[in-house]
Amino acid sequence: MNSRFQRILVTAALPYANGLLHLGHLAGAYLPADIYVRYHRARKRDVLFVCGSDEHGVAITVTAEKEQTTPQAVVDRYHALNKNAFEKFGMSFDNYSRTSLPLHHQTTREFFTAFHKQGVLREREEQQLYCEKDALFLADRYVEGTCPNCKYDQARGDQCENCGSWLNQTELIHPKCKICGATPVVRQTTHWYFPLGEFQQRLQAYIEQRSKRDGWKENVLRYCESWFKEGLQDRAVTRDLSWGVPVPVAGYESKVIYVWFDAVLGYISSAKEWAARSDDPDRWKKYWLSEETKYVAFIGKDNVVFHCIVFPAFLMAWNDGAEEQYVLPENVPANEFLNFESQKFSKSRGWGIDLQDFLKFFPADPLRYTLAINLPESRDSDFYLRDFQARTNNELADILGNFVNRTLTFVEKNFGRKVPHLGELTEMDKEMIARLDEVPRKVSELYEQYRFRDGVIETMNLARLANKYFNDSEPWKTSTSNPIQCATSLHICLQIVRSLAILFEPIVPTIAQRIWTTLNLSSSPHTAGWESAADLELPEGHSFNKPEILVTKIEDSHIEEMVKSLSGNTPPARPALSPEIKPTITLDDFKKIDLRVARVLKAERVPRSDKLLRLEVEIGSEKRQVVAGIANHYAPETLVGSLIVVVANLQPAKLMGQESQGMLLAASDNTGRLAIVTVASELESGGTVK
Ligand code: 2FM
Ligand code: ZN
Repeated sequence: MNSRFQRILVTAALPYANGLLHLGHLAGAYLPADIYVRYHRARKRDVLFVCGSDEHGVAITVTAEKEQTTPQAVVDRYHALNKNAFEKFGMSFDNYSRTSLPLHHQTTREFFTAFHKQGVLREREEQQLYCEKDALFLADRYVEGTCPNCKYDQARGDQCENCGSWLNQTELIHPKCKICGATPVVRQTTHWYFPLGEFQQRLQAYIEQRSKRDGWKENVLRYCESWFKEGLQDRAVTRDLSWGVPVPVAGYESKVIYVWFDAVLGYISSAKEWAARSDDPDRWKKYWLSEETKYVAFIGKDNVVFHCIVFPAFLMAWNDGAEEQYVLPENVPANEFLNFESQKFSKSRGWGIDLQDFLKFFPADPLRYTLAINLPESRDSDFYLRDFQARTNNELADILGNFVNRTLTFVEKNFGRKVPHLGELTEMDKEMIARLDEVPRKVSELYEQYRFRDGVIETMNLARLANKYFNDSEPWKTSTSNPIQCATSLHICLQIVRSLAILFEPIVPTIAQRIWTTLNLSSSPHTAGWESAADLELPEGHSFNKPEILVTKIEDSHIEEMVKSLSGNTPPARPALSPEIKPTITLDDFKKIDLRVARVLKAERVPRSDKLLRLEVEIGSEKRQVVAGIANHYAPETLVGSLIVVVANLQPAKLMGQESQGMLLAASDNTGRLAIVTVASELESGGTVK
């Protein structure tokens, strides 16, 4: 973190309290925010993390009408359910507030009144869609029609969910009343407008400066650029509705403030509520009213305009008229969308899984891990149940769980559950310690750049490497042939177990805590500090507790049981069939392919690529470079020395500027898993494969 900052304020989009959270929400804003916060807490940084329910707007009243109840009853129910589901998922909010609280109404009124007094807001008469049957102005979600930008046919009155545009309802093509389906008429009404257009230049300068300073994501910048290109429009910030914060201006008693005006201010109210609970009710100011705060707003892509343009403009307007100066977002790392089994999550079509249902069947950590490794950071991504099962069993259990377990049980058996002596180091020990030293720094860099997926991959790669180190050290042999060396390698393995607890805590906090407790260490991994994951801090002779199974594997039947219990459209419990077999070829066709055994001499990541590894291989006496898209599946170090199969007579190709002189064979299935084809017994490289 840049030294300009003393503390960090993190917000995650306030979810509407009109329905249950689903896995897509988690991958958009919440899990990345939580990883970020937990990481910074482990760095001993002063962090405030706030969120809460968004309880106003037509999202709520439409649900109330559908459920034939009151808006208050809707928000009371969903606020409690979502708050509870977030807790079970391990979200470490300092406060989870709600926008229906008097404290929040007061904050909203303060901003509105200040803007009104400063002369920022303009009163304007305008044409609005009105449903004669329901005797109602069709604000926001009360009207649906075709988006003028992308032609999506379910765009709402204020926003198109598909392309993210912020719309004026009269721009909708073929508008329809959401309540009765009738075509609305146009009627005159009066509203207060926020002059967003007047802020365009300042907003552009702000985004340019911050994006340079903190590296904004490409997708976010692209959205902003397109709105600037179109030119920002003045926007109505009041509505002809009865549910919301009443407009604090005489003559407007029957109208409320637009939900997006109050929702973004909910972040401030949540911090105020947090402070009010303590003995220093002003301590929220330390975060919100200071240039020394780094403010990061985590959201999904459909909220970009409100967080990069509207909210900063509100804060600028406030700062223009007051002594108190609010901090603007330093970054808005918005994620794209997560699909479920290749289709968009959809409440209306019953497609997807709600968080609370999921957590009835499975613990939070495997879900956190699978989501983290599939985060839609630069493009939409997918969540497959089979991938969830495979990641849990093959990675969390077989790599992390296995390493921790084999280390602890081996030490238990051979050294009586005490950290053995660190003797003289072999080259292999030194190499392992050097790698351990690098990883916390490497993962830090990735997290500071909001590259959570890569950070998680690096973290799991350390566990992979640790398993390889355990294997190569062969402690089951050295325990009799060279006990000092055996003690040394197990000492190092135990240190890595401790480091893994620290490094995994932001991703899988419950598992990390369990490792910590088994190691008989006090408090929590983060209290030891992130940097200490690079050190060998377990004292010799320290005794630990009896090891237990760390990660329970998921059986097919568990997945099927959950799928059966889901209502609505049931997603496939089994993956779709494998791709169809290609047309028959002759033996001569096949013989044209020259498959050879190759030994991996060197492996490293290709700079600036998430996916590619560059391998140096030996095929007999010849050396070649092979570039392969396997970085998400293999730590480069674990490949060195393995015998793989390459297509040796394939025309060379260039990938990210690197020439690939051959293609390695790898198997994959439709859950996204991948395994390199290796040659099981020791053969000379250059041998043929038939
Ligand atoms: O899109 C949504 O779910 C909104 N409720 C997000 C609000 S974010 C913030 F402004 F409160
Ligand atoms: Zn659209």
